[in-house]
Amino acid sequence: MTCQATSRYLWLLFFVFPSTTTENLEAPSFQPGILYQYRYSLDAQFSYLSRSSWQRSKVQAEALVHIHLLWRNVSDAREHLLQVEIHNLQVHHKPEHKKNQTNNSSPSTDVSPNTTELQQPIFLHWYNGKVEGFYENKATSPLTLELKRGLASLLQFQTHPGKKTEEDISGSCQVTYTASEDSVQKTKDLHSCRRSKFGFSCVNKIFGLLWQPTSKSLYSMEGSLLKSALAEENHVISLSLKSSIGVNITSRQYLELVAQEPGSKELPEKSLQEALAAILETPQPTDIASEPFKRICKQCPKLRNNLKSLGKKKIKIDVSKASTTWKFHRVVQMLHDANKRDIVALLKKAPENMVSFYVEAAVAAQSPTSLMALSEFLDFGSKKQTPLLEKFLYAAALSPRPSTELFRLVLDKMNGKKLSPAIWETGNLVIGALVGKLCQMKLCGLQEVETGMETILQSLKRTRDNTERVIYLLALKNARLPETIPTLLLYAEEGSAAVSAAALSALQRFSTQHITSQVKMAMNRIFHQIWKLYPKTSRLIAAEILLDNEPSPMDFINILLATRALEPEMSRLLLSKIQSILQSHQHTTRQMIKGVLRDPQINNYYVLSSQTGSSDSFSGPLAVTSDIFSTYDQTILFTENGLLRKGSTSFNILSHGHRFQVAQVVTEVAGFEGMFGGSADDEEEQELMAGMSSVLLDVQLRPVTFFQGYTDLMAKVLLSSGEPTTVTKGNMLLMDHQQAIPLQSGLQTVITVQGGVGLDISANINANLWEQEFQTSIKTRAAVIMDFRAEVDAPFFQATVQSQSELETAINFNAFLHLSENLMCLQMTEENGSCREVFSVFESSANETTTVHKGRKATIPGRALPFHRANSEMCRILHANTE
Ligand SMILES: *[C@@H]1O[C@H](CO)[C@@H](O)[C@H](O)[C@H]1NC(C)=O
Ligand SMILES: *[C@@H]1O[C@H](CO)[C@@H](O)[C@H](O)[C@H]1NC(C)=O
Ligand SMILES: *[C@@H]1O[C@H](CO)[C@@H](O)[C@H](O)[C@H]1NC(C)=O
Ligand SMILES: *[C@@H]1O[C@H](CO)[C@@H](O)[C@H](O)[C@H]1NC(C)=O
Ligand SMILES: *[C@@H]1O[C@H](CO)[C@@H](O)[C@H](O)[C@H]1NC(C)=O
Ligand SMILES: *[C@@H]1O[C@H](CO)[C@@H](O)[C@H](O)[C@H]1NC(C)=O
Ligand SMILES: *[C@@H]1O[C@H](CO)[C@@H](O)[C@H](O)[C@H]1NC(C)=O
Repeated sequence: MTCQATSRYLWLLFFVFPSTTTENLEAPSFQPGILYQYRYSLDAQFSYLSRSSWQRSKVQAEALVHIHLLWRNVSDAREHLLQVEIHNLQVHHKPEHKKNQTNNSSPSTDVSPNTTELQQPIFLHWYNGKVEGFYENKATSPLTLELKRGLASLLQFQTHPGKKTEEDISGSCQVTYTASEDSVQKTKDLHSCRRSKFGFSCVNKIFGLLWQPTSKSLYSMEGSLLKSALAEENHVISLSLKSSIGVNITSRQYLELVAQEPGSKELPEKSLQEALAAILETPQPTDIASEPFKRICKQCPKLRNNLKSLGKKKIKIDVSKASTTWKFHRVVQMLHDANKRDIVALLKKAPENMVSFYVEAAVAAQSPTSLMALSEFLDFGSKKQTPLLEKFLYAAALSPRPSTELFRLVLDKMNGKKLSPAIWETGNLVIGALVGKLCQMKLCGLQEVETGMETILQSLKRTRDNTERVIYLLALKNARLPETIPTLLLYAEEGSAAVSAAALSALQRFSTQHITSQVKMAMNRIFHQIWKLYPKTSRLIAAEILLDNEPSPMDFINILLATRALEPEMSRLLLSKIQSILQSHQHTTRQMIKGVLRDPQINNYYVLSSQTGSSDSFSGPLAVTSDIFSTYDQTILFTENGLLRKGSTSFNILSHGHRFQVAQVVTEVAGFEGMFGGSADDEEEQELMAGMSSVLLDVQLRPVTFFQGYTDLMAKVLLSSGEPTTVTKGNMLLMDHQQAIPLQSGLQTVITVQGGVGLDISANINANLWEQEFQTSIKTRAAVIMDFRAEVDAPFFQATVQSQSELETAINFNAFLHLSENLMCLQMTEENGSCREVFSVFESSANETTTVHKGRKATIPGRALPFHRANSEMCRILHANTE
């Protein structure tokens, strides 16, 4: 019977004979004076998920394993010291596709196993099948040691059923044994395994990986003798955001007794320690748990060699092109292991338009040397560097996994210097964002983090300046720490209009579990104006917080009844918000609202529909896949005179139970009533102003004021170049993940994922005062890249299975406002986009190296995203007028 056929037959046993017998098998043991010879085979396969079969890497190896009993406890025969050796390793590796093979560009290292090392025995202190100690005589190279750990792990089993925690190559794991007449099955729960930390992952789970592992081993016995052992392991690893990107790893170990020959005698020593001392130079046990290591890439480009070309080239870069984002990815890799001097040289020599690109790359790399280089290069006292400093700060805040060293660098740079107002504001928001992320990484207890938070809270209490209060509150919004909720409530209820609005916007970002009855009571007081009057915009946020966080039916009924007494625009906005909840299947409040509205006393159809006004709240799906549900939400509030008061557009992703705000842009305009001869709203007289506040990748950015006051407006209108202003432009990492998957067979897999994004958001406000026309347009262009790779290493084999994908897309948002005709038209269009995927397999075994690539490309047709009907109607009229 071939090895493969035998293993199939054994697997069949799993299903035909489920564990029914309760009678215990004999305890496993080996007899003295016998050399047990086993045939040992390993095979592993790495394939893409949902790809055609040729795109995979496969390897098989065979060897002979010798086991003999060195020593036994005289008073407890279950306690053994075993000597285990691997001989005659043979590797069978046939590349799946000879045709497309090339023999250059492969990141190979030395893959011929050192046979001397491989044959050196290991010694197992083996008690009733459990490996109590794992010893080797001379230290061997890490990959060879892994292979031996794999064999030792296979030799660990017990013949009686039960559940326990066991140490093996996978770490300390929960295992379950079931036994039948002459076989034992071991099931290892790989999710439960604990081992020393390796790698890193993103703060936000949305950018993480899904990992589904299984591990089963079947042992067949004859009396106390192990006849065969078959272990099979499977890992399916994929991106949480897109589960079609990933790998499927299967790995098997098969051990089969082939011969028993006379062997050397038992050692005469009385105790285990003496026996160990007799055979080992230093009888120190070696850790059986895998010690993963990151492959060193010898062919990767080095900064040192590229310094000249990177520094000199005066190139035009377009951050919204995927080619730029790939370049960013490569520079980040280069900076990972570059020294400080070279990085400083790069920053100093770079052409002016490239400096911020390299600063962002150095933040993304986060290596100690790149942070030291940034520390040396950036000067927070310098006026000239202001735009660069702001880029640095945002890059830190947007980091998918900021380190404490990065946080320290930001604190250090912000400390004790005379900062320009923009840097002071951005810096505080960024400290808030970093505190929030570090706390999510369970680093809240660190001295710096505590101090950072405490400083913001103290400064908030101390200051009398409302602009400063707003910034500190927005910093708390970024930190999103539940313990700051009472502070936020205080400012929401007591603060001035802007302060209250900032505190409310911070409260709005907490998840439902933190919106306690205390918060809800405060929101009710604000919305219903129990103690004092609040601006409409604040009352609306309070109502939204209630509606979005599982309100009681009474809270909902009170809001609904209140809409009858509100001014038409505000009432209309709230009712359309309720309508949009009713239409959204994802919304948690939907069922409750439906229930309440079934009561005819509350819902006469009249309540929800026959309102005048143009304000609106709308939510539509942007992309829906099996992994994500993404929406765009639009809220727009007009004044009673039909002027724009506040508009908010946001893009959100819901994926595998995690929520993420990709972007939000809130535009506020006030004080125009007076200008156009209308009477001011019932609200307090407001100064003429227009401003914008945005959230990007869950981080609140510094609010921007377009103009404040009539003179400012006039100056800006007159000086306006009509050119769009840049809101955000740059490159950053979206995803940065590294994880080791030690296979029980001793093959080591390291998964690395790096996702980058290049983003260019620009906004344009055009005002034609004579025609009373306003036009706002926000243009977002983006390139997203994803590099997913699984590196497989064994002493005799090396493979990299890689998937590289990219996406280029652009979304335009336009708002046209015609005041005299009271018309407003919103448009959102997605331009033609493109996406590309390339799959590659690089393999090296002792005598050959192959590379296989396959790619595909697609264009995504552009489209107009729908809004509500009334909007389409107004757009139609406006377009007819202009033609
Ligand atoms: C080899 O690669 C080419 C493109 O480089 C591809 O079109 C072809 O399908 C590949 N061969 C096979 C047998 O898959
Ligand atoms: C691989 O390299 C050898 C020489 O080193 C060359 O003769 C052969 O053509 C190459 N094969 C491919 C597929 O490029
Ligand atoms: C193989 O391993 C042995 C023992 O560790 C060492 O002495 C020898 O130099 C190694 N050989 C090679 C080719 O690396
Ligand atoms: C993974 O690979 C194994 C073996 O080829 C196969 O049986 C299994 O269905 C695959 N799983 C997935 C999710 O593709
Ligand atoms: C042998 O086993 C007995 C019983 O478990 C134990 O008490 C004793 O310490 C062991 N002897 C040695 C030398 O390890
Ligand atoms: C978008 O693609 C379509 C075809 O899919 C093409 O007709 C149209 O001209 C493209 N639009 C732009 C702006 O490139
Ligand atoms: C690689 O080596 C093995 C034996 O070690 C041999 O059987 C096989 O044919 C070789 N493959 C190639 C492509 O030379």
